[in-house]
Amino acid sequence: MPVAFVTGINGQDGSYLAELLLKKGYKVVGMVRRSSTMNYERIEHLMDQITIVQGDLHDQGSLLGLLEEHRPSEIYNLAAQSFVPTSWNQPALTGDITALGVTRMLEAIRFIDPKIRFYQASSSEMFGKVLEVPQSENTPFYPRSPYGVAKVYGHWITINYRESFNLFAASGILFNHESPRRGLEFVTRKISDAVARIKLELAKELRLGNLEAQRDWGFAGDYVEAMWLMLQQAEPDNYVIGTGESHSVREFCEIAFAHVGLDYKQYVVQDERFYRPAEVDLLISDPSLAKKKLGWNLKVDFKQLVTMMVDADMKRLRVKK
Ligand code: NAP
Ligand code: GDD
Repeated sequence: MPVAFVTGINGQDGSYLAELLLKKGYKVVGMVRRSSTMNYERIEHLMDQITIVQGDLHDQGSLLGLLEEHRPSEIYNLAAQSFVPTSWNQPALTGDITALGVTRMLEAIRFIDPKIRFYQASSSEMFGKVLEVPQSENTPFYPRSPYGVAKVYGHWITINYRESFNLFAASGILFNHESPRRGLEFVTRKISDAVARIKLELAKELRLGNLEAQRDWGFAGDYVEAMWLMLQQAEPDNYVIGTGESHSVREFCEIAFAHVGLDYKQYVVQDERFYRPAEVDLLISDPSLAKKKLGWNLKVDFKQLVTMMVDADMKRLRVKK
């Protein structure tokens, strides 16, 4: 039974990836950091099938010890401080986890077993103030947040260890991907949650920042498949994963509210507090390499994604109400 080691297993992507790896017959070892409360909501349904271990990307010793003990053949490094606004308030912590944490994991691989295949969760946020439209593996980076800067480091250290030490280290440059398991502070989930609250008369308005920002939004369940495919290739590489379509926050609101028979204009209030010191205005991917080389394809389109998220929040909040 191949062993896969997943950091950030209790995050959005970790939960979908764990489901996929279990279906493919892996033993799944998931790393979580120590907390005074359990934070396993997204993986509750998998707890009897996966092995949960404690470790932290801040702590080199914990990574070395865990790899020595569990001897994985594949590592998916999904853990990060992943919320962009927090990266301006906690820039050094973001760099320590999201950038240097990658080096710590690569060092652990180098010392314990250089044959381990490594996936790094890189991000379209690295393209920032985009220098080319659409963005591909060859588009130069121009990050616009401490998070984006940290991800550029993580991407390049992955390539550097591939070239310096011949590690099988792949970097997936994933565009925004969402789901009913998305954290509540990210804009899509903030919208789907608010739509359900307003419809169920639990809230009266939704306060948002920049409605004109455009993102290439896909479904997280489709994207974890691409992560796995990257580690099954003969050679490691970098791959852009996205839908090739872009939509504004405003469009997301329009479809989400309309799905429950409401007009977003009556409920959405723009609020300065949610604007960013530097914005990423437009992201749109060119995923042709992944389609050609990995044979990767989407199953869920934009409208299906929005309605799936609203339906899930309606269901959850109806029960709560
Ligand atoms: P997420 O839901 O925020 O999950 C992040 C995970 O990292 C959580 O499990 C978190 O654990 C863990 N973590 C944070 N700091 C840690 C530390 N010091 N040591 C160990 N674990 C730590 O993020 P996601 O949406 O699943 O994204 C997964 C990865 O893909 C992230 O690296 C993200 O930056 C990247 N990415 C995401 C997207 C997207 O659109 N979702 C796009 C491109 C790239 P706690 O629960 O304890 O906080
Ligand atoms: N979070 C949030 N809250 N965003 C808002 C709001 C609001 O109230 N109002 C408008 N927005 C706009 C933001 O300004 C941004 O342009 C866009 O909505 C998307 O914001 P997020 O959903 O927070 O995601 P992100 O694009 O900043 O980052 C996500 O995607 C990256 C990939 O490009 C995260 O998942 C990152 O971890 C990931 O790397």
